[in-house]
Amino acid sequence: MLQFPSLPCRGRPALAAFLAVVLAFPAFPAGVPTFHEPWRPQFHFTAPDTWMNDPNGMVWYDGEYHLFYQNNPFGDKWGHMSWGHAVSRDLAHWEHLPLALAEENGVMIFSGSAVVDWRNTSGFGKDGRPPMVALYTGHHTGKPLQNQQLAYSNDRGRTWTKFAGNPVLDIGEADFRDPKVFWHEATRRWVMAVSWPVHRQVRFYASPDLKSWTHLSDFGPAGSTTGIWECPDLFPLKVEGFGRGSKWVLVVNVGSGAPAGGSGTQYFVGEFDGTRFVADARSATNWADFGPDFYAAVSWSDVPKRDGRRLWLGWMSNWAYANDVPTSPWRSAMTVPRELTLRATTSGYRLVQRPVRELAALRGAPARIGRTGIDAAQAWLSTRRFEEGLAELELELDRLPSSGEVSLRLLHGEAGETRIDLDLGGRFLRFNRGRSGRKDFNAAFADAQTAPVRIVDGKASLRLLVDVSSVEVLAQDCETVMTDLVFPKSTRLGFS
Ligand code: FRU
Repeated sequence: MLQFPSLPCRGRPALAAFLAVVLAFPAFPAGVPTFHEPWRPQFHFTAPDTWMNDPNGMVWYDGEYHLFYQNNPFGDKWGHMSWGHAVSRDLAHWEHLPLALAEENGVMIFSGSAVVDWRNTSGFGKDGRPPMVALYTGHHTGKPLQNQQLAYSNDRGRTWTKFAGNPVLDIGEADFRDPKVFWHEATRRWVMAVSWPVHRQVRFYASPDLKSWTHLSDFGPAGSTTGIWECPDLFPLKVEGFGRGSKWVLVVNVGSGAPAGGSGTQYFVGEFDGTRFVADARSATNWADFGPDFYAAVSWSDVPKRDGRRLWLGWMSNWAYANDVPTSPWRSAMTVPRELTLRATTSGYRLVQRPVRELAALRGAPARIGRTGIDAAQAWLSTRRFEEGLAELELELDRLPSSGEVSLRLLHGEAGETRIDLDLGGRFLRFNRGRSGRKDFNAAFADAQTAPVRIVDGKASLRLLVDVSSVEVLAQDCETVMTDLVFPKSTRLGFS
């Protein structure tokens, strides 16, 4: 139910915000939904029947988006880390493929990236076709050592060969991981960003051939340093409304100390000259997602220039409780793929994350109410029920007063509710999952989190993606994002 509990009564009709609501329930092609276990996401990526954490090796090649992921092929908890694999032609439907890189000889396959070596700098190409090259961390189980290793594929990622000369980068450290590699056109060489977790630093290296790496510079400590630094990414990103203008974004995932508690994703905006990343002078830490369930986010490599988008997704969980979430036989999902841009605001650049347009292919016919008052919108929305726990909801609010609260209850029934409040005076969004369902599996599964929201000219937009056991809230044209897991106890649920 949408409520204005604390609005002043004076002239209520004049005060009422106006809403445009669009509600769509994903419709799946014949034979889908694919999985029927309790809390199994339907339009978010999950491994079929095992544990999953970070997205890895994301790369586009020959019409396919590849998604590799940290996977335990033998169980539903973290362990025996290997790379699981799936491909998609449209970012909406995924085809599961066999394990791509398996733990072997006391070396687990930790997180990393993949690129298409178009110029065959590595020499691994075959028959005039470029190889796909993966750079990942070899985690040695018998000794305190992590180093960077290489594998390549000549068959569109279907099979992989570990390089005989591994490791390709070894500084003798126990914690040194998650290489993200890209081609730096201006200096015509490969650049690797790799985390030095306990130092709270990202190290940069360069290579002519993906096999020999030279140290360039280090970034950090900076921003949030409570938790260890993991899974970096570095890319140029378009600034909205500035033509071809772009800035460099350095993404650093932190193992703990994020605003919602536990792990989270921070970013720095600045310049990269091929050797060194320099952040714009700013004091506040930037967070990509203010919910607790967004981690290890990294972007796709080699998205064709004619497309030009920077796309990413994150692991939809939190290290504080990931191993305990009550799902079986799989554990964890990815967020939906999101398109990234930067928005210039008076308080600096904000990362904007739009769910990719391709997801529209999953939409059923949307129901719309046009511009109307809050009461009519409330009444309309309260007649709607979730089908299979799935919905996409868009709200456009205007003429908002400068105090009071807009509350939206969803996944609501006798057994509980999830609540999202927009506090107009405090200018923040609160996600409340304190009564959302199961939460007894781990004390760190926190009840509520908040995110600052810019409210300009009394206008606000909210977009919600609800998929059985997760809610992604995208506020203010996707510049404030909160991703939360919820485990509702009932499937007969509505908005009020
Ligand atoms: C991040 C992370 C990475 C590591 C991987 C191991 O979630 O800890 O730093 O490579 O997971 O599964």
